[in-house]
Amino acid sequence: MKVLVIGGGGREHAIVHTLKKSPKVDHIWCAPGNGGIAQEAECVAIKATDIDGVVAFAQENQPDLVMVAPDDPLALGMVDALEAAGIRAFGPRKNAAMIEGSKSFAKDLMQKYHIPTAGYAVFEDSAEAIAYIKEQGAPIVVKADGLALGKGVTVAMTEDEAIEAVRDAIDGGAFGGAGARVVIEEYLTGPEVSVLAFVDGTHLKTMPSAQDHKRAYDHDEGPNTGGMGAFSPSRFYTEEVAQTCMETIFKPTVAAMAAEGRPFKGVLYFGLMLTPKGPKVIEYNARFGDPETQAVLSRLDTDLFDIFNAVIDERLHEIDIRWTDNAACCVCMASGGYPKAYEKGKEITGLDDVDGSFVFHAGTAVQDGKFVTSGGRVLGVTAVAPTLEEAIRKAYTDVEKIRFDKAHYRTDIGVK
Ligand code: AMP
Ligand code: GLY
Repeated sequence: MKVLVIGGGGREHAIVHTLKKSPKVDHIWCAPGNGGIAQEAECVAIKATDIDGVVAFAQENQPDLVMVAPDDPLALGMVDALEAAGIRAFGPRKNAAMIEGSKSFAKDLMQKYHIPTAGYAVFEDSAEAIAYIKEQGAPIVVKADGLALGKGVTVAMTEDEAIEAVRDAIDGGAFGGAGARVVIEEYLTGPEVSVLAFVDGTHLKTMPSAQDHKRAYDHDEGPNTGGMGAFSPSRFYTEEVAQTCMETIFKPTVAAMAAEGRPFKGVLYFGLMLTPKGPKVIEYNARFGDPETQAVLSRLDTDLFDIFNAVIDERLHEIDIRWTDNAACCVCMASGGYPKAYEKGKEITGLDDVDGSFVFHAGTAVQDGKFVTSGGRVLGVTAVAPTLEEAIRKAYTDVEKIRFDKAHYRTDIGVK
């Protein structure tokens, strides 16, 4: 079977790497891929958001399945376009991807179906938003409505900060069209856990829990990033919490989407906060998370290609999905300066010395036979071991062997 994977980050490397283990998969293309993915798949120079380009490539090369991994092509309707061309595609259609693409849609859905989440209000007018902030007081959370690369959220500790975030988003156009509407949310506290699930429209099967580290620096300081590392499982996600989430959040969300005529098929990501009043949804993503996927898929013990097909054919309930009883830790090595401006083209050395971890490539290219940096997040050094402590130790032992100019990584992944 031939598979085309759309995307070119660490998450897509993990998906390609896991699909390669399937005896049924004999060829993988990845569009656009990256330097590391090119070691395992045939990279094709088509942008992940180029729907016409991807459809044309698929029509010519006839993959048996196209896996659309990133948020923007899903929000733009790539799965719908592939299906219209008669090509099997994994991922939610545009009308279901909206659960991530519009935070106000997601909040309204949760309110309508009584799914626990932070209290909120939606604004398109900055004066009204500011009046609401003054009424509610700080701390308070301001979110751009649309996709903003994980950077559209301001957790404001003061009213002034919240007001500035509203002005930047609505009046200043900081997030383009994505910020013309803002969601203002009640500030919640508690440990954050990510739970990803395969969903076939009706049934869902959760993956083991994970935790992400969104801030750039140790001790959760510095700006928010796409994610500086992840580990699985989360210590906070007990069997009891899992059951509560299944009954109050996971099943109700899948049922709500079906009831709205937007059946969700693909991977649904639940960003949860375990508050003193129980688990609440912080965000939904309509896809595998990055870097959680690198940690979670490292623990998968079932053929991923079989799972994708079961989702597409709506028979997820018939398949047994197994996970290894161990722990995984993924440490992201980023370019100095990320998530703000950073330089590219730095040579990466030491990859051959890695022993025990697997290095997923996020932002790398091959130049004159050498790996060089080509993005903000560069590598995701991922180790699996019987305990989380061992997985952390193994991953960092390998991180220290890898070098590139101005490399930056957190030293406390897995500790919180
Ligand atoms: P998001 O992009 O929605 O995941 O938000 C980014 C981060 O902001 C989350 O991982 C949380 O740490 C924080 N955050 C989002 N919403 C809230 C909230 N209502 N209360 C407190 N923190 C939040
Ligand atoms: N790691 C969070 C995300 O993928 O959005």
